[in-house]
Amino acid sequence: MPMQQRLTSDNAPPAPPNVMIIFGAGGDLTRRKLVPALYHLSRGGLLPETFAVLGVDRLELDDVAFRDRMAEAVRNHVGAAWDQDVWERLCERIHYMRCNITERESYVALCERLTRIDAERGTDGNYLFYLAVPPALFGDITRLLGAVGLTTETPDDWRRVIIEKPFGDDLESAQALNRMLHQNLDEEQIYRIDHYLGKETVQNIMVFRFANAFIEPLWNRQHIDHVQITVAESVGVEHRGEYYDKAGALRDMIPNHLLVLLGFLAMEPPNSFDSEAVRDEINKVLDALQPLTPEQVLTHAVRGQYGEGLMPSGERVPAYRSSPGVAPNSRTETFAALKLTMDNWRWAGVPFYLRTGKRLNAQYTEVVIQFKRAPKIMFKDTDVDQLDPDMLVLRIQPNEGIQMSFGAKVPGPKMRVGTVNMDFCYADYFGNAPATGYETLIYDCMHGDATLFKHADTVEKGWEIVESVQDVWSALPARDFPNYAAGTWGPAAAGDLLRNDGRRWRRILTPGADQTS
Ligand code: BG6
Repeated sequence: MPMQQRLTSDNAPPAPPNVMIIFGAGGDLTRRKLVPALYHLSRGGLLPETFAVLGVDRLELDDVAFRDRMAEAVRNHVGAAWDQDVWERLCERIHYMRCNITERESYVALCERLTRIDAERGTDGNYLFYLAVPPALFGDITRLLGAVGLTTETPDDWRRVIIEKPFGDDLESAQALNRMLHQNLDEEQIYRIDHYLGKETVQNIMVFRFANAFIEPLWNRQHIDHVQITVAESVGVEHRGEYYDKAGALRDMIPNHLLVLLGFLAMEPPNSFDSEAVRDEINKVLDALQPLTPEQVLTHAVRGQYGEGLMPSGERVPAYRSSPGVAPNSRTETFAALKLTMDNWRWAGVPFYLRTGKRLNAQYTEVVIQFKRAPKIMFKDTDVDQLDPDMLVLRIQPNEGIQMSFGAKVPGPKMRVGTVNMDFCYADYFGNAPATGYETLIYDCMHGDATLFKHADTVEKGWEIVESVQDVWSALPARDFPNYAAGTWGPAAAGDLLRNDGRRWRRILTPGADQTS
């Protein structure tokens, strides 16, 4: 099915009748993202009258108590933009059911409850199961849903399952997870969510490249010197220490979010926005990425862990090792940087530098395309001794936009060239529509559009790429941790990764931030 009209479109049709069943309804994700996303969809008129939510968890709650909790969560999320009418329209469709996720009887009761909701709400037997639970429960839930017939589709009713990351923690466990899911579900029923795909600016990479004829001729090794992808976070691990200490920055961010960005940046034009066509092109990119050899890991991969430090806000924060749930002698990395190359015609010889980390100097995600320098030949008898390379910056978040930096003549009698910026800000053109990033994804799943979800093979390919690094890092635990202070740009070796190639990370001009990297 082609990609639906996006949420900004005035003519997007409401979703078809359905019940969204949220496993893990008492958890953080439901409160912080899922129900606020439903509120935004409801405000946009994108949920039908024939819609219901059924929260499922082990907590002793009834519909009223669950609705009160969700109201508070949405209020916290939308602040002054709270609209009582919008909330009431959604609220009366929200239900709750206590359930023991690992017991068959609960699923028999779930069937009965869903049949009643269908009769009351006209939801037509279409069910979207959202598994907002730890991955260890994915197997039990899908098996028991299957056992009571809730995964069986008919020509009139669809049954879809959204699963959250992490999809395994290495290639082998991802393959095992996919095998387990396939025992009860067809691949077309599985929607693996990566919330980066829900970000408007990530989707815009495709539009920017393929809807503007001037870009594509330049988008290759003839014109591009290198690409930088940065996902910098100023936050620490917060209350997720236990999970994070097992995962680390490499596994938490790179096989999913950073490779999603890389896929959209490097893909060939798909024949259409059809989900298969897009996915095939992204998989070709992942196939062409060269896994690092053990020797290359030593020179092309950098890891770091933060110690205590001073954030630009003036707050002094403790070291990673003092976070709740983290081992006091933890060797887990909170920063990872990689230099990757691709073995294909378009990108041969163009390095892609990726970096991500916690407790860095600023919170932002951006892509930098650095073009090759123009030959200086014309300027040989002038005062111009260096031409800076042109640069295109795709700001994914915050301050979403696109910036082009290029050389312009500095006014005056002498020939001098200065770097100037052309800047497009989303907010100036399209306003600031509050969103969690989950709206589009939930809406697309209700429509059966899998373009922005990950297929089993995409997930497995992501793991293949990081596994070459993870194997070496596990065999040679870091001895120098912590090796960067909170509030800085990460370990010095990350700067060297580019410096050794005669390049440097783009400096972010965040107010109050340290400009050195
Ligand atoms: C999650 C990671 O998938 O993405 C977190 O598990 C990370 O560690 C988060 O903080 C970043 O997402 P965003 O949308 O804030 O960039």
